[in-house]
Amino acid sequence: IGPARMTRLEDLWKRQPDAQFSDLYKKQVDDEDDNPDSELELTPTEQQYEDGFHYQNILAPLVKMEADYDRQMKESLTEESIAVDWDVSLAGKWIAKFSFHRMTAESRVVVGDELRLKLGAGAQFLNQGKPWEGVGYVKGILDGQVELELRNATNNPGGIGAQPSNNNNKSKKNGGGDAAMVVPQNIREDYIVEYIWKSTSYDRMQNALKTFAIDDTSVTGYIYHKVLGHSVEEQRIATAKVPSTVAEFTVPGLPPLNESQRLAVAAVLQRPLSLIQGPPGTGKTVTSATLVYHLTKQNMGQVLVTAPSNVAVDQLTEKIAATGLRVVRLASKTRENQTVTSVDHLCLHVMVPLASDEFQKLQRLKDDFGELTERDARKYRALRNKTEREILQAADVICCTCVGAGDPRLKNFRFRQVLIDEATQAVEAEALIPIAMGAKQVVFVGDHCQLGPVVMYKPAAKAGLTQSMFERLVLIGNRPIRLQVQYRMHPSLSEFPSNMFYEGSLQNGVTEADRQLLTTPGYTGKEDFPWPIPGKPMFFYSILGMEEISASGTSYLNRTEASYVEKIVTHLLRMGVTPAQMGVITPYDGQKKYVSEHMRRAGPLATSLYEAIEVASVDAFQGREKDFIMVSCVRSSETQGIGFLSDPRRLNVALTRARLGIILLGNPRVLSKNPLWAALLLHFKEHECLVEGPHLHNLQACHMTFPRPKRNPATDPRYAFTALARGGWDVVRWDESASRRNGNNALGFGKSQADSRFDPRYSR
Ligand SMILES: Nc1ncnc2c1ncn2[C@@H]1O[C@H](COP(=O)(O)OP(=O)(O)OP(=O)(O)O)[C@@H](O)[C@H]1O
Ligand SMILES: [Mg+2]
Repeated sequence: IGPARMTRLEDLWKRQPDAQFSDLYKKQVDDEDDNPDSELELTPTEQQYEDGFHYQNILAPLVKMEADYDRQMKESLTEESIAVDWDVSLAGKWIAKFSFHRMTAESRVVVGDELRLKLGAGAQFLNQGKPWEGVGYVKGILDGQVELELRNATNNPGGIGAQPSNNNNKSKKNGGGDAAMVVPQNIREDYIVEYIWKSTSYDRMQNALKTFAIDDTSVTGYIYHKVLGHSVEEQRIATAKVPSTVAEFTVPGLPPLNESQRLAVAAVLQRPLSLIQGPPGTGKTVTSATLVYHLTKQNMGQVLVTAPSNVAVDQLTEKIAATGLRVVRLASKTRENQTVTSVDHLCLHVMVPLASDEFQKLQRLKDDFGELTERDARKYRALRNKTEREILQAADVICCTCVGAGDPRLKNFRFRQVLIDEATQAVEAEALIPIAMGAKQVVFVGDHCQLGPVVMYKPAAKAGLTQSMFERLVLIGNRPIRLQVQYRMHPSLSEFPSNMFYEGSLQNGVTEADRQLLTTPGYTGKEDFPWPIPGKPMFFYSILGMEEISASGTSYLNRTEASYVEKIVTHLLRMGVTPAQMGVITPYDGQKKYVSEHMRRAGPLATSLYEAIEVASVDAFQGREKDFIMVSCVRSSETQGIGFLSDPRRLNVALTRARLGIILLGNPRVLSKNPLWAALLLHFKEHECLVEGPHLHNLQACHMTFPRPKRNPATDPRYAFTALARGGWDVVRWDESASRRNGNNALGFGKSQADSRFDPRYSR
């Protein structure tokens, strides 16, 4: 059995747990409709489209396939014979705690997901033969245990509430649904858990595609043609108010911009469509926040600020709020009351109760009694909607995810100015959601050398769904404005990413002195970390531990690496570095759990310190920074691949999060089989920062040898991103006068002579 066949079978198991090898070759003709593997004419994406309908016709089916696949995956999570522990939250809500058997399931469930809990046959027997079911949101997942907060069972479960007498005001209304109220708290075994799949985000993408095609007020004509890739005469916004002095550019609460950042702001303000590209730490987000400030001064109404991920939106929201603008962060209903972020006070659902005493009173009633009388409930909803509308209308800036822009609460809003940060992480249709709300001026900010969109259904990915609108626009000749001076990393840390991923173009805006721990404001410790080479705050810790398959069966962990992570963390904590200053990155879920657990269990300092340290995937760190980053690579088998680690974009993000110091822990022998990692290891070795040994204070140079990669991986066409980068930059560097002479741009697309929108050259 070859690895390829094994992978295919594993894929099949996700949808068909009892599949056999023979099933791999079965032609499934009977159920073509819901069988995503039947590769029914998958029309690939194009770079240019004839019109909105053409665009929709190509993208909508791909989005649908991705949605169908997602649904199948999620719905296959149903599990029986689950044991539940009942608990009551502080707010008096029922919490069901349980673990999935197949932990694959659990690792795919995330906080905010909706699950249904039902009684199995045995449990129903114990429940006097009565069925019961409850629906709730996943409130937390701790060490593999899911905490599900039940939605319609809030009647003071711990006390009198569990008695029927307290249900009076609901029984009238709820009728049959009443069963949900009486949680079978004495029954522990034999529950069934089902995943409730929601199509919301896909629906909103489809909607945006449709709106863009049929509603000619969804965007201006210029944006319409630009998005479709038509060649249109460049436009300038004549009325743009552009700051003229350095002081005018500077906004409250943010660092003064450097010259290229100022030029970027000035250029963007005058253009209806712009792309800002820059390597990590070059201030894309800071520049975006400054830009948003100036955009609000253009008298074009409210500005819509989005990014594909919640993490990125929060980053940006925080920076924009620092400028003193009135900012509202619109979070999805499922995220309300469950995640604690730095921007909670700017969230709509937090602001509403503060704005209305009467609403607050009703909210308290609702919390105490689980539900309101019909009259109060109507009043509650009306008051909430009114207050929400008022707050949103009063804002200068509304921040949400791209998908969040399709929220019904923004239904009647129009936005002339839209900014999308991390735009290279959004699929086309996703980026279109905020744009198709009336856009006249659009700003894309991103970096295609960092993580791209996640597309799970491989055929759709292959057909081009993973290409972001940002990338496509670059490829068809829209020049991005580039930022190249980074203010995040100690110069030693930016060297490798600059050479490997950015053709050496990344410059340092901070000096080594700026990134010394001992002079960092707020640091009260007396010593520096014992870096093997003083002045180079980095090392690759050679650790020859074993990788293991985690309990879930689908992830990996590495105990030896985890124990060294704990040692390093403890050392930093002892020196006086705070937990908030550090982060542990590991690409595997299994290791993530194991490291957290292990630090809590084995760490000699207060548990709360270790609990406060963020251990997360690379993806969760995109757009963010920490003073110290530890990267636990996990993979250590000579015969298996290195999985996630081989993605250059992921490596790039992992290497560029640290400000003061980075420590990688891994097995050099295994990792060096990959040319990109071999280059990284050579880099550390050449700097004498490839080390081994049991004591942090006495690390020895590691003399392991590995072959120098045959060619520079940075120029390896197998890495899509470098190829793309080159494609993109060639366009940028391409001689414009020649372009004008020939009427063609670098990629050979027709330019200017074609008057008809339907000229075939636009789309072929
Ligand atoms: N002109 C500047 N002067 C001083 N500091 C700056 C400047 N621009 C950015 N910074 C700082 O550099 C760091 C990185 O900035 P920012 O997060 O905006 O970068 P980014 O390009 O968005 O990075 P990423 O690609 O990781 O999202 C931040 O700490 C920010 O405050
Ligand atoms: Mg950023």
